This record gives sequence, structure tokens and C-alpha cells, in this order.
Amino acid sequence: MNIRKVQQVITGQATTDGAGVELVRVIGQPALMDLDPFLLLDAFRSDDPDDYIAGFPPHPHRGFETVTYLLNGRMRHQDNAGNEGVIEPGGIQWMTAGKGIVHSEMPEQQDGMLEGFQLWINLPGSHKMTTPSYQEHDAAHIPTESRDDTVIKVISGKTSQGTSGPVSQPLTDPLYLDVSLQPDTAFNEDIAADHNAFLYVIDGELMLEDTSTTQLSLGRDQLAVLGQGDAIALRSGGRATRFLLVSGKPLNEPVARGGPFVMNTQAEIRQAFSDYQRGNF
Ligand code: CO
Repeated sequence: MNIRKVQQVITGQATTDGAGVELVRVIGQPALMDLDPFLLLDAFRSDDPDDYIAGFPPHPHRGFETVTYLLNGRMRHQDNAGNEGVIEPGGIQWMTAGKGIVHSEMPEQQDGMLEGFQLWINLPGSHKMTTPSYQEHDAAHIPTESRDDTVIKVISGKTSQGTSGPVSQPLTDPLYLDVSLQPDTAFNEDIAADHNAFLYVIDGELMLEDTSTTQLSLGRDQLAVLGQGDAIALRSGGRATRFLLVSGKPLNEPVARGGPFVMNTQAEIRQAFSDYQRGNF
């Protein structure tokens, strides 16, 4: 077993997106532009409606997947193909934008806490123009694995003890776990050796080793990029701790970004803008 060490610690950058939503960009900012196949990670958490009420009015996407995981609050989504629904606490929406979708994401609440994540996962060039599709699952359909002092919600991928998440994406084979540890609890898990992987601390504190084998403490809202290996070993600090553990198979393809479009070349980005402006999404 080769334990992955922390390669880089990232603190998110406060930013505004949509029609004025305050959020923290963790992946997709200068300190970590991407972690192949992950293109972006936004974290949002606020009980001030001014921070979120404007939401994300209609906007397009092409060439990748958006994964919304809500911890608190409710979010309504609608798209130009007539799909509509509400993501509830603990629910996941895995949207394969493929060749193009125009959607809105609006808070379904006037006040109270809105908290969650949006992760963008790249698609290989051969599948960027695939037909758009959704995998949506509410909290009741996300399996929970209980170990001693540990609870794992399995959104996608499979744990070493055999619990499988409902989302399937063989192109990048993502593992997406939401892990809760009691204080001073050890956690060990396998991670595919050919994956890139990160941790994001939602609350509490994690202790693990960095590449110089120094014990490192990772706090709330910090992301750790994990180095090579096929397993992870860590421990919670003196408080109950919750974190995301995410990994995926890198695509090793050129990444061309143009706002809401992510393709392989700038010519494909220009084509995406042109297709969108002509109403071809
Ligand atoms: Co969107």
C-alpha cells in the first residue's frame, strides 16, 4: 500500500458569479487552475439571502459535466430542453452538458442557509459533443456506509468495503465521497492509483502527512491536492470532522476554456459561442 501524501494546500478565493452569488472558488483559480479531470470547484455557504438570492439565471454550458451537491437549502433548476426540478438537502445533480445546454440554477428559498458545492468534471474530446443528460438523486438514494465512528455517503464510485454510489461515469470513473468522522478517528481508504485526487474539509480538522512527511493539519474550507499512491490514511482532530474525498481518471488532453464552455481548442470555443448565439443549443 502506497499512502498518498498532501502535495499542495489550497485556500479558496472569494468571488461572485451568476447574477451576484457570493462563493468561494477552490479549483479554477490561479493557485489551482485545474486538477485533471476536475476543472472547477465552487463552495457556497451563507445564511444571508443577499449572498445567494440572485442565483444563476439562464446560461449555457458545453463540453463537460457540472455536479451540484447541496448540503443545506433548496435549488431549482430549469433548462431549454424542458427539464426542471428542485435539488434538496443531501441531493445531487450530475449534469452532462455535452454538446450544449442552457440552464438556470435559482435558490428555492427566500432566507435561511444555502450550502453546497459545484464541481466541473471534464469530458474527453470524443464525448464533448454528446447528447446532454442528467443523473439526479435525492438524499434517500445516496447509499451510506457506516464504519466505527465514520459515516460515508457514496455519491459516485465504490468504497473499499463495496458500497457503490448511484452516479455512473466510466469516462473519468469519479469517486465522490462525503465523509463524517467522530473526533480523533482514523480513516483509511483505497484510491485508484491512476486517479488524481483531492480532499476538501467542510468542517473540523484533518491530520495527515505531506510529501516531506510532516504532519499537516487541514482546516475548514481548505483543499488538499493528494500526491501519487493507491490509498489514503488520515485522522480527524479533536472535533467531529466532515470532508469530501474526490478522485478521477485524468484525461491528459489540452484544455481550452471560454467562460461556460470547456473544449480542446480555441477554435472549438469560438464555435461554441457562435452556436450559442445562433440559438443552436
Ligand atoms: Co450552470
